[in-house]
Amino acid sequence: MLYLLDTANLADIKHANEFYPLYGVTTNPSIISKEKAEFLPHIKAIREIIGPDKMLCVQTMEKTAEDIVRDGEMLRDAIGGNFYLKVPISEAGLKATPILKSKGIGVLMTAIFTPAQALLSAKAGADFVAPYVNRLDNIVADGCAALGEIVKQFEIYGMNCKVLAASFKNVEQVHKCASVGCHSVTVPLNILQGIVSHPMTDMAVAGFDRDWAKVYGDKTIFDLVK
Ligand code: E4P
Repeated sequence: MLYLLDTANLADIKHANEFYPLYGVTTNPSIISKEKAEFLPHIKAIREIIGPDKMLCVQTMEKTAEDIVRDGEMLRDAIGGNFYLKVPISEAGLKATPILKSKGIGVLMTAIFTPAQALLSAKAGADFVAPYVNRLDNIVADGCAALGEIVKQFEIYGMNCKVLAASFKNVEQVHKCASVGCHSVTVPLNILQGIVSHPMTDMAVAGFDRDWAKVYGDKTIFDLVK
């Protein structure tokens, strides 16, 4: 499982990059607009935080294959490092994908809502597809079940394409996606933090602290071993 952060908020990215086994950062036009920052300097600031090796995904706004490819080349050159162009699925996106790949640009096909869209994207050469789990759940379509079907189809047809599940609103959705063999997820920071914390964990740690203090007071292991 690869964990990516789905935000353009620099404070959240710094935090996640410091504490979590982060594979990269995904953005989309809504996420970037929320920051109300200058576009390119902000993307470069994200690259600066995560370094050149982590995956950084930026979405094209273009609607023709030629313009999508031009965005891919421009953004790759401007941002550098492990860059992927996010392309919403469309005929133009499918046409652009093999061209982008031939230029060495990674492709994340996004706004995926059906296994059939995912399979076609994989066939066109996309490296990742991003199904929107919560938006499917919101229309009672079972996002994780759709995702499981995509994983199965990629296995059946021996596709190299990976599933990067997106649009999460709770920890249970992430857990369910992991259970059906999803390769990667992109989530906001509060979901990563929700995965880490558990009241029983807090109780267990409090118990360890109490028992230790009864015998060793406020001494740390460092105090006792140095
Ligand atoms: C990421 O690739 C998607 O753009 C994003 O996760 C969508 O999330 P939302 O449904 O919360 O907007």
